[in-house]
Amino acid sequence: MKVNILGIESSCDDTSAAVVCDGILLSNVIASQAVHSAYGGVVPELASRAHQQNIVPVVDQALKQAGVQRDEITAVAFTRGPGLLGSLIVGTSFAKGFALAGNIPMIEVNHLQGHVLSQFVHEKGKESENPKFPFLTLLVSGGHTQIILVKDYFDMEIIGNTIDDAAGEAFDKCAKVMGLGYPGGPIIDKHAHQGNRDAFKFAKPLIQGLNFSFSGLKTSFLYTLRDKMIDNPKFIDENIDDLCASLQYTIIDILITKLDKAVKQTGIREITIGGGVAANSELRDTLVETAKRKKWKVFIPERKYTTDNAAMIAGAGYYKYLKGEFATMDLGPDARLKF
Ligand code: KG4
Ligand code: ZN
Repeated sequence: MKVNILGIESSCDDTSAAVVCDGILLSNVIASQAVHSAYGGVVPELASRAHQQNIVPVVDQALKQAGVQRDEITAVAFTRGPGLLGSLIVGTSFAKGFALAGNIPMIEVNHLQGHVLSQFVHEKGKESENPKFPFLTLLVSGGHTQIILVKDYFDMEIIGNTIDDAAGEAFDKCAKVMGLGYPGGPIIDKHAHQGNRDAFKFAKPLIQGLNFSFSGLKTSFLYTLRDKMIDNPKFIDENIDDLCASLQYTIIDILITKLDKAVKQTGIREITIGGGVAANSELRDTLVETAKRKKWKVFIPERKYTTDNAAMIAGAGYYKYLKGEFATMDLGPDARLKF
């Protein structure tokens, strides 16, 4: 008997559904919400409304693409948190309705554990090696910047965390002050290709241990723009590529320096990355290059599995299914869910 897991992800501004059959990904449909770009960031109320509109067609498409009927789904896995409460309510409620209607079990998934376990989801015909426990994950997104020690599928410990902004937030906020669109990370990534990363120097944090800080960098970036624009109001336009390249280089340097420290501290040399910022081309290249130099083994997921997606939720759900860990109907979303 095949085990078909339907995964639902709605923690922020992407509505996504995916089907995993016996651990192999059959479909992964994502509806991104363009409505937020006009506001320079995610507007929670608009996000939950868009999830309500998107969830039924997205699930429908995921089932169709997988070639799986509704009554062939074995269990439904959903993101319980952390995330925006209004957004989480939509996915959680849908999962409950789907489970009740089909008389099938529900599985709760922690969004961050989903990002970590995205390494274990493989498309049909693209099966590849999985990382071996214990390994380290650099999780870098719009809401999180963490180094996680992964001892087993659901036995994880955060050994480094940001004390203020997340790396993705640093990208997005700096993009905003340069008048670039939202989300700013991919736009900065594009400009940086043409820029000189040594053109400008920005402040790097002096934080002990494995924790991160990005608020000082953000302020340093803002002050540079402010000072330069006194003499030249067109400074941003004339230097956009160099500004993006220098900013991106600084953020990545901060991330890799801490990761190196974590490797030295734990002795673990197997590393995975996840979260939206893991789509960044320079971060990916730098990791490969650093791994070669320092003899690390790195696992870099395809870009579509770094940003928010339901494939990682369905995949994590599959491993919970194998452990027999099911959620009860009274379980609600938790915006600050911990693991
Ligand atoms: O994981 P994600 O889709 O959502 C959560 O925050 O959970 O991550 C979104 C973040 C945004 O801050 C976005 O700017 C950043 O990932 N991002 C990137 C790139 N693509 C997405 N940052 C840098 N370079 C990219 N190519
Ligand atoms: Zn995420």
